[in-house]
Amino acid sequence: MERTLIGSLDKNNLNQTILVSGWVENIRDHGGVIFIDLREGLNILQVVVEPQNKEIFNIAESVRNEYVISLTGLISARPEGTINKKMNTGEIELNSSSLEILSKSKPMPFQLDEHIKVGEETRLKYRYLDLRRSEMQKNIRLRSKINSQIRSFLTNQDFIDIETPMMTKATPEGARDFVIPSRVNQGSFYALPQSPQLFKQLLMISGFGKYFQVVRCFRDEDTRKDRQPEFTQVDIEMSFTSSQEIMDTAEELIKSVYKNAIGVDLDKFSTLSYSEAIKKFGSDKPDLRNPLELIDVKDVFINSEFKVFGGPANDINSRLVALKVSSPLTRKQIDEYTKFVGNYGAKGLAYIRVNDTKDLKEGLQSPILKFLSDNEINQISSQLKLASGDTVFFGAGHKKIVNESMGALREKLGLDLNLINESEWSPVWIIDFPVFDEAIDGSLTPSHHPFTRTSNELEILEKDPAAAVAEAYDLVINGYEIGGGSMRIHNSEEQRKVLSILGINEKEAEEKFGFFLEALDYGCPPHGGIAFGLDRLAMLICKEDSIRDVIAFPKTQSAYCLMTDAPCPISDQELKELAIKNTSKPKE
Ligand code: AMO
Ligand code: AMP
Repeated sequence: MERTLIGSLDKNNLNQTILVSGWVENIRDHGGVIFIDLREGLNILQVVVEPQNKEIFNIAESVRNEYVISLTGLISARPEGTINKKMNTGEIELNSSSLEILSKSKPMPFQLDEHIKVGEETRLKYRYLDLRRSEMQKNIRLRSKINSQIRSFLTNQDFIDIETPMMTKATPEGARDFVIPSRVNQGSFYALPQSPQLFKQLLMISGFGKYFQVVRCFRDEDTRKDRQPEFTQVDIEMSFTSSQEIMDTAEELIKSVYKNAIGVDLDKFSTLSYSEAIKKFGSDKPDLRNPLELIDVKDVFINSEFKVFGGPANDINSRLVALKVSSPLTRKQIDEYTKFVGNYGAKGLAYIRVNDTKDLKEGLQSPILKFLSDNEINQISSQLKLASGDTVFFGAGHKKIVNESMGALREKLGLDLNLINESEWSPVWIIDFPVFDEAIDGSLTPSHHPFTRTSNELEILEKDPAAAVAEAYDLVINGYEIGGGSMRIHNSEEQRKVLSILGINEKEAEEKFGFFLEALDYGCPPHGGIAFGLDRLAMLICKEDSIRDVIAFPKTQSAYCLMTDAPCPISDQELKELAIKNTSKPKE
């Protein structure tokens, strides 16, 4: 008899005799009648084994959870009172007439019940079992749906799917490379791609006007909830195009994914300049569902005697901001938030609690009040429209530290005070990025990658690189950077200039990117593109808060695979063949 999938069964199969197979989710002995919940993927069928058929009954009695079994039997209606309308199979059951155990299972290291909390270490060690859980089955299936929608959308728009090498030369995206030693070229190394950036640009030079690839990328950087050492990008590049055309195409793509995967119609995405985002939210990936905003209050404290504010108020590289919440926070909460901003380098977190606005002398509470003039207090009160019950925080210091610490505090307060509507979506394009990020010590790194075009005259790149604006755009959804891209430099002279501003001298540029710089001299069309993080997109759509929950076999925070024990040492023989000497101390 041919196998019938449990997922295809419903009351239309009543009175049919069928063969089904699957895993035993649950087995219950109800006074002589055995009930088995048989699971296949996300679907469950109730099976009844009556004691009359002794042979089958005996086998059923030896069955345990997670055994793989195969059964034939007649589909009949469930008795009144045992019907479950939520499931397709909720009105039927199978009366077993034969039962075969195909494979036994040892007792499980953890139960698959979604209500039971299992430590992530155990889940990752036995990931193949963890993936049986309905939550993971749903996530991985939804991810597959997202992936196939992306492919069909782009293919329908005449994008060409082209694979690029995994064993290659470094492509800088701001992380360290994972390298592969070569046996045939001892002492030389391939790098795994941080992204296919240079290859997709070369494909534009080759005349493939619209390219895409769903591609694995590798970055040796600190792993976080939204970062893995290997992850998947949806990589796109187009020739003879503009930022606007790329953003429009990308927006349509993301909208089609939301519609197809979860039936959500997203509104037109909003747009925010990088500088406005930093000013209001201290971050270039703001969650716009969060109503809190940073308010600049430098003007109020220009002549302040309170040094913590007066200093930054008069320093061009500093910021002084207030962040108001309409909640009377306790001292304990404030102490915790002070500790929290300390993680981002903030030296303190001044605050004012507003008990009663009728009396600005007695109605406010704060250790800094004694340092502030009446005028300063009045100005703060009117500028921030203080009301009784408010708490105001202040961040003062180098703009980078204030942005990072107060931006993070804004996010945390939004979550802690339940200011975010979890069922909303807030996609926003962040545009007009600086070409370079300037560190506190003044050093420059590319804010995207060194192949991004500036919208300014070239001279600005040379004379005041930190002021140059990039033709780059990021897509941020609910506070996560989901994608980023740019128009590219398509002329070798400009490309060399950018590399030299980054401190890469001509010799080094030739060594690292000589092949690419040369290619730019053979008729390179103007071009640009974008790449989305598929894992992050899937994480948002699956409503998870870690990308590990949408990756079948992810790594831990320390980039380790608990299941396979990778990375692991290799034999002396292998090291010898690769001409590599291991200088690390053996692990304890
Ligand atoms: P970028 O570095 O912004 O751009 O990467 C594109 C997107 O990939 C995702 N992403 C990650 N996801 C999980 N784990 C990681 N470690 C990780 N790093 C990045 C993010 C990010 O927005 N070549 C350019 C794209 C271009 O210019 O076309 C690039 O790689 O969602
Ligand atoms: P101090 O003079 O360091 O004792 O700080 C006085 C008050 O200002 C305390 O409430 C500190 O938390 C706060 N404070 C100190 N440094 C900063 C800063 N960089 N930004 C905001 N508040 C600060």
